[in-house]
Amino acid sequence: MSDLKNILNSFENKFSTVKNKDDLQNLKSEFFGKNGSISLQFKTMGSLNPEERKNFAKELNTIKDQLTSKIEKKFKDFENLEINQKLKDEKIDITLPIRSIQNGKIHPVSQVIDEISSIFSEVGFSVAEGPDVESEHNNFTALNTPEDHPARDMHDTFYLDQDKKTLLRTHTSPVQIRTMLNGKPPFKIIVPGRTYRCDSDQTHAPMFHQLEGLHIDKNITMGHLKGCLNYFIREFFEVKKIKMRFRPSHFPFTEPSAEVDIGYKIENGKIVIGEGDKWLEILGCGMVHPNVLKNTKVDPNKFQGFAFGMGIDRLAMLKYGINDLRAFFETDYRWLSHFGFDPLDVPTNYRGLSR
Ligand code: PHE
Repeated sequence: MSDLKNILNSFENKFSTVKNKDDLQNLKSEFFGKNGSISLQFKTMGSLNPEERKNFAKELNTIKDQLTSKIEKKFKDFENLEINQKLKDEKIDITLPIRSIQNGKIHPVSQVIDEISSIFSEVGFSVAEGPDVESEHNNFTALNTPEDHPARDMHDTFYLDQDKKTLLRTHTSPVQIRTMLNGKPPFKIIVPGRTYRCDSDQTHAPMFHQLEGLHIDKNITMGHLKGCLNYFIREFFEVKKIKMRFRPSHFPFTEPSAEVDIGYKIENGKIVIGEGDKWLEILGCGMVHPNVLKNTKVDPNKFQGFAFGMGIDRLAMLKYGINDLRAFFETDYRWLSHFGFDPLDVPTNYRGLSR
């Protein structure tokens, strides 16, 4: 009898120090294993007389049931603890708002570059690129602009070395040279990219964006140039008709050269592009000079074509009613949330280019 009491006491003591499933498993073996204290008690029964055996068996079974259920319950507790801990560790709060996607905006210049690329790709132009750091040769000489040419001074160039051999490109036109040197005609490319001039005020920034266009093939004429630009301006400003005029101009790398103005008017304080009696200059263009073709190993007797260059920032300002160019480059988050675009609104000709 007192054996059972001892066993019970010792069980209670040990049970109260159990810390985890392993401890519990050990405790279980200690009492219910092959040589466990409870198991051994069952073996002593044989030596008892029937009356004693009956009582003893009853008591021993009660104790056995008590302890087993205690152990089982404790196992369950440990299991629940484990599961809860696991749930806690692996918790993902799916109620958090997706901040970056909701608040991130596409800069108007990037948006306009996408719009322009989409419009020109519809009529067979592909997008070419070149580096911001250029050689003096590609930026000027190969473009028929020799060293003493006044156009060099007009470009307010940032030179990067004493000898004036490397510079930040002053226009995207050097990509004409790169493209023609690296391939065979026909060429039909546009080049959006950064350009640099030492100039800064409300309408000029030292870094700005240009779009170059180049189409070289057999029998390309000024008529193709006019048709192409007319198509582009109509698509870009999303108007059916556009008033355009070509004014004679001069660029060393085109002959003849022209500047293009588009008609506009102000209505209720807003600019309306395409009609009206005011003119706005938007680009320079012309037929690629035979010297440029020669410099790039293209035979001017077989091939000819047009080129144009325009300011992308200016186009973005006109289309989206932004009146200070400098704001483009100030990285003011409030400005960007107002004038920026939804990243999922990728412009295409079919879905519509702007919001
Ligand atoms: N590169 C000229 C500029 O920056 C623009 C231009 C490009 C003119 C191509 C004619 C042909 O002013």
